[in-house]
Amino acid sequence: MPPEALLEWYVELGADEAIGEGATDWFATAAAAAAAPVAPAAPADAGGTAAAPAVSAPVSAPSIVQARPQPAPSGAVPATDGAARAARSLTDLRAALEGLEGFALKVTATNLVFGEGVEAPDVMFIGEAPGADEDRQGRPFVGASGRLLDRMMQSIGLDRTENAYITNILPWRPPGNREPTAAEIAVCLPFIRRHIALVRPRVVVPVGGTAAKTLLDQRQGIMRLRGRRFEFTDPDLEQPLPAVPLFHPAFLLRSAGQKALAWRDLLTIKQIIQ
Ligand code: URA
Repeated sequence: MPPEALLEWYVELGADEAIGEGATDWFATAAAAAAAPVAPAAPADAGGTAAAPAVSAPVSAPSIVQARPQPAPSGAVPATDGAARAARSLTDLRAALEGLEGFALKVTATNLVFGEGVEAPDVMFIGEAPGADEDRQGRPFVGASGRLLDRMMQSIGLDRTENAYITNILPWRPPGNREPTAAEIAVCLPFIRRHIALVRPRVVVPVGGTAAKTLLDQRQGIMRLRGRRFEFTDPDLEQPLPAVPLFHPAFLLRSAGQKALAWRDLLTIKQIIQ
């Protein structure tokens, strides 16, 4: 097999980065992770949800969907819920993540990608998980999709240095950018919920299907969730926060025809913060 074909094969398998000088015994890593206390996935959501509006629904009148009360995170993931809820500040929360043990993604990732932006922002954008660029730099949304997200934000007067905050459901990159598993999401959920409570945004914007389903406790995909207004609730919040799901910029880079719908959602966000 020519070397280029071998490299392509590695990339298809998800081995797209050389991250160490020496060899790693991944069998030992996997065994350690399997022995670690990983929480079960949240129970399947049995309830139905309101039908998605027609694509032509006017921007000015998005329907408001009350997310069903979230199950107490403590029931689902006791191992991380205590550490997350004990955090009194973003500094505490970062330290709790840095101190988390027995989580395999920490071993394969290069950096913790905590989040960046201002506290009490107009909008908190929450993506799925860091990619290769984010993992290398330890910052969220800094690759191609991050550049598009920055432009989308700028189009409605938002900037991560002034009035917005950006983070992800998972603060560590899944190897090869694979989708996070339900168990990985369950472990990280108490942290992102606490992150939202500590950042205190006016509006929560789940970016992409994984973030929308996770934060809004929905089963439908982003095609059906976008274009609607939800409420994000948490026991640590005095009142529910408006939540507006948005297409992931990586999807928009592949499907430019969907940008018009994303623009409607951005206008909905702008309308709420005004
Ligand atoms: N995609 C995400 O969901 N998050 C990032 O930080 C980068 C790409």
